[in-house]
Amino acid sequence: MRAYTLGEWGVSGEDPGLIQDIAKAINGQYSAIACYEKLARLAPTEEERRQIMEIRQDETNHYREFYQIYVRLTGQQPQIAVEPCPDDYKEGLEFALKDEQNTVDFYLEIADKARDPAIKKAFTRAAQDEQNHAVWFLYFWTNHCRCRCKQP
Ligand SMILES: [Fe+2]
Ligand SMILES: [Fe+2]
Repeated sequence: MRAYTLGEWGVSGEDPGLIQDIAKAINGQYSAIACYEKLARLAPTEEERRQIMEIRQDETNHYREFYQIYVRLTGQQPQIAVEPCPDDYKEGLEFALKDEQNTVDFYLEIADKARDPAIKKAFTRAAQDEQNHAVWFLYFWTNHCRCRCKQP
């Protein structure tokens, strides 16, 4: 197993699989930031737009936090690749809702696997934010469908 140098954290002792998961989490965060920017522009009301931008700010905070963790664990910067996201508002909400739900589970798995308490805490707290985001997207989706998806 490759040994990672941790700087102030000392030798990490973290599983290489965990490092890969953190890299995947960073990509997910980067993609969510781009996706929510697009969704905010498509939002039908100012209130929704503002809430989506607040969610986007949370994702930016997660991105920065995970990025720092990755650099401290590996001494390297992660490779970033953006995942696509729908151009249609309703499809975008569904995409975001499912992605947030899946991300909750993924981050809790990372928190379980990590040995470092700081990593456990960062991912547990981010999972709580994602759960909250999922509820917001479900609310917007329900509103959107109540207003626009009914047949006349
Ligand atoms: Fe996030
Ligand atoms: Fe989120």
